[in-house]
Amino acid sequence: KVSLEVFMTKEQLFKRYQTYCVKNDEIGVSVDFSRICFTDEFMDKTRLKIQRALKFMAQLEKGDIANPSENRMVGHYWLRNPDIAPDRSIAAEISDTVNKVKQFAAKIHNGEILSSTGKPFKNLLVMGIGGSILGPQFVSNALGNPVSDKMKVYFIDNTDPDGYERILHLLDNQLDTTLCVVISKSGKTIETRNAMLEVENRFKSNNLPFAKHSVATTQMVEDKSDLFKKAKNEGWLEVFPMWDWVGGRTSETSAVGLLPAALQGFNIDRLLEGAMVCDEWTRSKEAKTNPAAMLALMWFYTGKGKGEKNMVILPYKDRLELFSRYLQQLVMESLGKEYNLAGRLVNQGITVYGNKGSTDQHAYIQQLRDGRNDFFVTFIEVLKDRDEEEFYVENDVTSGDYLTGFYLGTRQALIEKGRESITITLKQVCPCTVGALIALFERAVGLYAHLININAYDQPGVEAGKKAAAEIINLQKRITGFLTANPEKPFTVVEIAEGIVSAEEKSNGVKPEDLQENVYHICSHLSANKQRKIERTDSVILSATAFKYSEYII
Ligand code: PA5
Repeated sequence: KVSLEVFMTKEQLFKRYQTYCVKNDEIGVSVDFSRICFTDEFMDKTRLKIQRALKFMAQLEKGDIANPSENRMVGHYWLRNPDIAPDRSIAAEISDTVNKVKQFAAKIHNGEILSSTGKPFKNLLVMGIGGSILGPQFVSNALGNPVSDKMKVYFIDNTDPDGYERILHLLDNQLDTTLCVVISKSGKTIETRNAMLEVENRFKSNNLPFAKHSVATTQMVEDKSDLFKKAKNEGWLEVFPMWDWVGGRTSETSAVGLLPAALQGFNIDRLLEGAMVCDEWTRSKEAKTNPAAMLALMWFYTGKGKGEKNMVILPYKDRLELFSRYLQQLVMESLGKEYNLAGRLVNQGITVYGNKGSTDQHAYIQQLRDGRNDFFVTFIEVLKDRDEEEFYVENDVTSGDYLTGFYLGTRQALIEKGRESITITLKQVCPCTVGALIALFERAVGLYAHLININAYDQPGVEAGKKAAAEIINLQKRITGFLTANPEKPFTVVEIAEGIVSAEEKSNGVKPEDLQENVYHICSHLSANKQRKIERTDSVILSATAFKYSEYII
């Protein structure tokens, strides 16, 4: 494999650009693949493979069970074009939901729905995690204007108590004008539940009825979603549906993304339209004119189908700063799989990171140019600088000219050292191009997953982490139970582990030694938080560190 600069002049590179840049004027998006060193031979060799992947996507869009491990259809493409949904009831539900979102947002904006104290809602507090919040966060940052948006938005996306405080302090004395949006497809995700309970408690302490300030987006099936049950039983303002055929990380064009966007005042019709036009564009059977197929092929080419090269996302636009975080989930949760569809151990994935240019030029780009060549960059260039009047920082030169200069300069500096890149150019950042970007990568991920024969739509690893966390909480309950029942003296880590395993468990093979490390970490955490009333006595030998329950810790 050779660097393009080694065998091409700049003039030839420009010719290559004209051959391998695909564009769509309707949505104002173009994608340039010329600076990946692939050859026509590679395109010929992979022709059949990509054709098969495109056929698979066509079947997926028709409603095939494309997520076999969860036995589900994969329907995010229907969300922006209900006419292609496999049956009428699904199409009707999609259209009804978009209308319901728009009507609800309009009622909030025009004061038809008021807060419990009779005031108009001004703030929006969105709670969720992973696929249930990364899309809304990305879109909010891309399209928002904190001064003129219809509502001021805040996000809670974790189970970090200090993180809650930081956001809730911003809303001190403003909860009476705050609308809460709780998003969880499963309606059971612990982080989101915790956020909701903490916020609900804050409303209670301000004598405000949380239910009258809250809406949920979740599966509307009582025995599946605890969130749905709670919202229904307590009479929340509204519940919006999530369907089992939409995955979290591909849910931005469902109510998950549309509701927060509409409430902030963004044009969700244009967002859906951008995604729909991009879907049409990326259905092209001719790989060379299909940017999603080309993206998938380039990922395959650079990483040899094994993810050997990392994907660095570099948007030269502050508004797109969260795109790398959004893509990190879309790509890594979809492609990072242990087994392929044939059950073979493959440990697949593509590592995604990035932030924004030119900021990153003063950080890790030094390594990209001179260090390990273990990546390819995806630049995102935005042609339009701003709506407001230009300011000239030098004679006839604006800050935006510099931004372009830094992008072109970095791209050149990289290719000179044989470091490859793709460039996505957007005419401007607007609902339409943002919708298109989302749709472009959703399909590229689906196609690439087919090229490497994995299921992009399940997440068994996430489930494993959730299960392990639940076991830790269970262990903690046993530890605190043991220490509070025996407050007379401190117990070492070894003694606590011994004390919490029953004789029956031991006979079933549970070994107290296996619990010692977690006992140590759990007790260390508890003792660092005085209200938990666990006292710590250190020892040079960690396992001899002792912990004791005491009522008197202040
Ligand atoms: O993409 C996914 O499936 C995940 O990232 C989920 O969105 C995430 O785990 C949150 O799940 P839920 O919406 O059920 O709370």
